[in-house]
Amino acid sequence: MKTALIIGITGQDGSYLAESLCARDYAVHGLVRRASMFNRARIDPLRHSEAAGQGRLTLHYGELNDLTSFRRLLRTIEPDEVYHLAGQSHVGLSFEIPEVTCQENGMGTLHLIEALRDLDQPARFYHAASSEIFGSPTDGRRQTEDTPLAPVNPYGCAKAFATQLCRVYRRAHGLFLCSGIAYNHESPRRGENFVTRKISMAAARIRAGQQAVLRLGNLDARRDWGYAQEYVEAMWLTLQADKPDDYILATGRTVSVREFAAAAFTEAGMEVVFEGSGENEIGRRRDTGATVIAVDSRYYRPVDSTALVGDPTRAKQVLGWAAKTEGEAVARLMVRAEGALLTGRPA
Ligand code: GDD
Repeated sequence: MKTALIIGITGQDGSYLAESLCARDYAVHGLVRRASMFNRARIDPLRHSEAAGQGRLTLHYGELNDLTSFRRLLRTIEPDEVYHLAGQSHVGLSFEIPEVTCQENGMGTLHLIEALRDLDQPARFYHAASSEIFGSPTDGRRQTEDTPLAPVNPYGCAKAFATQLCRVYRRAHGLFLCSGIAYNHESPRRGENFVTRKISMAAARIRAGQQAVLRLGNLDARRDWGYAQEYVEAMWLTLQADKPDDYILATGRTVSVREFAAAAFTEAGMEVVFEGSGENEIGRRRDTGATVIAVDSRYYRPVDSTALVGDPTRAKQVLGWAAKTEGEAVARLMVRAEGALLTGRPA
């Protein structure tokens, strides 16, 4: 039986990965932060289900910047694989809390790989990098693992630092460190302040008569949106490869926030027609004429990365991984998951 440690197990990706590793018969350990309110809803089914994970899943309290306890934990559980998925992950918020963002995503990663370096048999290490390391490329090409790093927000800066550090430590110390340069990957487990979940929840609530209008920021932003459950399989495959490397994890296609919202509202039974432009753009229901989408400049970012689309060729060739669900299909599955809101209530 292999042993894995997931840092960030209570998040969207961590919870899907824990399920996947338990199903593969791993002993799974997860690092959780102490907080006055429990934040374990995403892993609760796994913790309480005999078949799914009970007995194979152990949680430990820890913090990314508490190096002493992390070293002790590594020595105690001797993991074969460590998946580092933790840290402040909201790009917009990183402009408001840049220091925490950089400490967790940048220095936090350095702490972890320094601790690994001291082990007699260092575990294989997966670092959750991000498309945000590339910033706003203007060459019109899809990004590859060799695209220069040019982040445009504090979150991207921290991820670029950690990605490059993994490359340096891989070369200098021979460690098995890999970065998955993941583009946006979404699911019904997504946090509510990311745009896809905000849209899918609003579409369902408006359909159920529980909300009137969805207020969004930049409708023109385009994202390469995939399905998170598929991306955690790539994470596992990355650590099964013969040698450590970095991989672009993406669908290779973008849709705009406007197109994603239109697909979500259609799935909820409301076709939306857009009119106006900039801050005055609105989306109306075609059937009733009611305004259901409006632009609110509070959600604009000081700088927005608008042209990120990944070239996942290396992941396909080396890992045999390819995204299956993309763009509008992600929107549809997320709206369907809000099912309770969509059924049995007046439109
Ligand atoms: N959050 C949010 N809320 N974003 C909005 C809104 C809104 O009301 N309206 C428009 N947007 C636009 C943002 O400006 C951005 O261009 C796009 O929607 C996506 O925003 P997010 O869903 O917040 O995701 P992100 O692309 O900034 O970051 C996510 O993906 C990265 C790449 O995989 C996060 O998961 C990052 O942690 C991740 O690294």
